[in-house]
Amino acid sequence: MELESIKKIYAGYSNVYDVLFKGIFYPRIKHAINYMDIRPGERVLDVGVGTGLSLSEFPGYCKVVGIDLSTAMLRKAKDKIRKHGLGHIDVMSMDAMSIGFRDDSFDKVFISHVVSVVPDPYKLMSEVRRVCKKGGQVVIVNHFKSSNKVVEVVEKLINPVCKKIGWRSDLCLTEFINRSGLNVRQKYMLKKLDFWHILFATNEK
Ligand SMILES: C[S@@+](CC[C@H](N)C(=O)[O-])C[C@H]1O[C@@H](n2cnc3c(N)ncnc32)[C@H](O)[C@@H]1O
Repeated sequence: MELESIKKIYAGYSNVYDVLFKGIFYPRIKHAINYMDIRPGERVLDVGVGTGLSLSEFPGYCKVVGIDLSTAMLRKAKDKIRKHGLGHIDVMSMDAMSIGFRDDSFDKVFISHVVSVVPDPYKLMSEVRRVCKKGGQVVIVNHFKSSNKVVEVVEKLINPVCKKIGWRSDLCLTEFINRSGLNVRQKYMLKKLDFWHILFATNEK
């Protein structure tokens, strides 16, 4: 997917995203952030923050920066920041494949439902590793293609449709881990049968 079509698709979603996806996405977002063990004063980057479903989960004693390509999605995130008085959180428009922060700017990075949306997940991960400190934590919530052969065939078949509605369904978890260069310490699904993995990784530089 190209950046311009991603912007168009998510501008279209922005008004209905929470209604459509909160019930599906929020439980894993909440779980993952609660297990991040964020310490007072730490700086956290939320990549592809979208409408800000994650924002209420970040403790007030850390500093959070959320970035997203879509200004329409960010508008919703800004509404939440204002409504809930989340003064420790800033959001800004930015391409996650070219992050405008210096090396080692963040202690932790959170990325939910984004690696299969960006045009190049490995460029994204290389930027994430650059701006995250050495030994910092990178937490990813995402769909990866199933290890079940039948489901994998279906996912491959529906991939062109998925791309039209905003993500790809054929990203391979093993290849993603190997190529992203992260030291993945934990990977699991919240339920036995789930479509989304949660990865806890350390940024070894
Ligand atoms: C499925 S939504 C996930 C939003 C949020 N993280 C969540 O879990 O609800 C994908 C988000 O990634 C953003 N996105 C896609 N490509 C991006 C890029 N290159 N840079 C920054 N954000 C991007 C989209 O605008 C969209 O808000």
